[in-house]
Amino acid sequence: MKITRILATVAALALCSPLAAAAPLAWQNKALNADARANLLVGAMTTDEKLLLVTSYYGTQVAWNEYRDPGARRQSAGFVPGVPRLNFTPQWQTDAGSGVATQGVAVPDLQRTALPAGILTASTWNPDLAVRGGAMIGAEARASGFNTMLAGGVDLLREPGNGRNFEYGGEDPLLAGTMVGAIVRGIQSNQIITTIKHFAFNDQERRRTTVNILIDEPSARMSDLLAFQIAIEQSSPGSIMCSYNLVNGEWACQNDWLLNKVLKHDWGYKGFVMSDWGAMHDTVKNALNGLDQEAGVQKPADYVYRDKLKAAIADGRVPMAVLDDKVRRIARVLIESGAADNPPTPDNRIPYAAHEAVSQADAEEGIVLLKNDGHILPLAGTARRIAIIGGHADVGVLTGGGSAQVYPRGGSAVHGEGPKSWPGPIVYAPSSPLKALKAERPGARISWADGSDPAAAATVASKADVAIVFVTQWTAESLDFPLTLPDNQDALVDAVARANPNTVVVLQTGGPVLMPWIDRVRGAVEAWYPGSKGGEAIARILTGKVNPSGHLPATFGRAASDWPRAEIDGLNRGEKEIFDVRFSEGAAVGYKWFDKNGTRPLFPFGHGLSYTSFQQSGLSAGVKRGTIVASFTVRNTGSVAGKHVAQIYVSPAAGGWEAPKRLGAFTKLTLAPGRASSATVTIDPRLLGMWDSARPGWKVAAGKYRVTLASSAADRGTSVIVTMPERHLPAGAGVAK
Ligand code: GLC
Repeated sequence: MKITRILATVAALALCSPLAAAAPLAWQNKALNADARANLLVGAMTTDEKLLLVTSYYGTQVAWNEYRDPGARRQSAGFVPGVPRLNFTPQWQTDAGSGVATQGVAVPDLQRTALPAGILTASTWNPDLAVRGGAMIGAEARASGFNTMLAGGVDLLREPGNGRNFEYGGEDPLLAGTMVGAIVRGIQSNQIITTIKHFAFNDQERRRTTVNILIDEPSARMSDLLAFQIAIEQSSPGSIMCSYNLVNGEWACQNDWLLNKVLKHDWGYKGFVMSDWGAMHDTVKNALNGLDQEAGVQKPADYVYRDKLKAAIADGRVPMAVLDDKVRRIARVLIESGAADNPPTPDNRIPYAAHEAVSQADAEEGIVLLKNDGHILPLAGTARRIAIIGGHADVGVLTGGGSAQVYPRGGSAVHGEGPKSWPGPIVYAPSSPLKALKAERPGARISWADGSDPAAAATVASKADVAIVFVTQWTAESLDFPLTLPDNQDALVDAVARANPNTVVVLQTGGPVLMPWIDRVRGAVEAWYPGSKGGEAIARILTGKVNPSGHLPATFGRAASDWPRAEIDGLNRGEKEIFDVRFSEGAAVGYKWFDKNGTRPLFPFGHGLSYTSFQQSGLSAGVKRGTIVASFTVRNTGSVAGKHVAQIYVSPAAGGWEAPKRLGAFTKLTLAPGRASSATVTIDPRLLGMWDSARPGWKVAAGKYRVTLASSAADRGTSVIVTMPERHLPAGAGVAK
């Protein structure tokens, strides 16, 4: 009997059961807290009902998915049947970081607003803006009938070519954890839950299901795990998604150290762990080592719970208490978030204009002005002849591929590019920088060349006052990419720059790329994947309607060999071959690695120019409440309003860390011309310490610490010295509230 019919029968029987509750059940008593209600619910469930909650089925109706539950949302990532007899809600699960994604293919009536890529939101260094972006995509998830998002990727940018860097928050634990935590807070403000992922060290895509990451515990705790810890404590996500890869020899989704010791014990995490789609391996190990819900089940051969877990409980290999804990975790967060009491009904009423305004505001604050020689930008009002070249800038802006793919209102502006099947095809949001520029500059004569022929592009450029070349690097889940721009785009930029010295390059990339032409152009702007209104955002930055205030969340190097691994391993590995990748750099990720090796980056972490100028002054710092508190003043010394990201870096005068310095705090200030503002920031004490496995916990050594106020990781800035007493912090310091 096809599983489909079994599922439908179970659901139907439960519905028509005389026990099907009409009146509210004890667990539905809203006067009780979520813990008490979850306990009552678990106590009322049969074993079969408990087993319904620990398996999530792929929700998209495709040939290779044997589970066709009518309750799943169309083209969705996941579905968990509820327990109708007990009035308990199903889980409708959707991807992901840029909004409500549609699995597989575009569906005309499932178009949603695309928030810019996570790496752009991180580039805003503005948590409040990130909350608004998260709130918007969470609202679209609820309006689409989902109560569980799978958004909140925070894996560190260790590999510049990782195909999913666009989904994450960059290379630094404090920035990534803070920005992704803010997005998650926003999403969960819609009485739904979301999922911080991919836990952990899923820092490459090549052979992601068989790569075994080797990293020592102190380095693990002070890098990727710290990013997760900060994001979790700042957002209390309903779920954590364990990753496909192995960590120190054990699959992440059955890794007792990662899930039970670090996440649930040390950090006191009370939500539930779901697997990545199909990332489960062994019924008993998954059950005992911390996996609460298997996800992405499509056929009988690929699940580990359901009847297999029932059998393991029956024969004593898994205690019933372990299943109860899983169900309790799932139930508790769905109750606590409000999702259980307020099931989402898909009305698909999307206030597109309002939501696209949120997306555009995010893009405008996350676009980074990298280079601006001779103030080529903003485009002078006298620039009458403007050449726009390449990057499909005549029709749209690039988005990233894979499970995070959102199909924006209006559908893709470009067809037939990239892989024919998942994670392709390449989708461009229908927001044209060229059209937007024409709207901003009606008096200018704007010419166009598609960039396919560098010579033709050069001819168009030669007849303009300024030439703007759009270059693109599509990246996507399941793939990693070289740092060189594809499709001969470097030659295109060179040809245009030779034809017109007033050349500006607008990049749309998923992470750091090489720019061999950078000395031959006068301006460069990193627009990442700028979302549903990215074209308008780019045009408003180029014309000065918006003063750029984005700052890099990742270092841009000069060569692939600047990073610990010039090439991501995996291309020549067998499909089932488990192979090691040792993170020998430890916690020295990104700028820390560049500092440690004295490598000069092309553009440093934290870098971002403005159309105005800022002066930082008056730095003072002292020890308060057991950590360092720093104060300073920032003045807008230029002629236009702008936003400035003040960065505080900390270093032990005696050395001994993984690298010379760490980002200790940051704040973004909005200043009118001539105005000044003071700020005070507190250094998270974990960022002053080293992980000590013996305790376990963080040990802050007594001694002198240099506190530097800077505008990027390469800025010497101004410093003061502070003396700290020795301090010890428990492993869960700062743990979820
Ligand atoms: C994918 C991704 C994960 C996504 C899930 C559901 O394999 O790794 O990020 O949320 O499956 O689509």
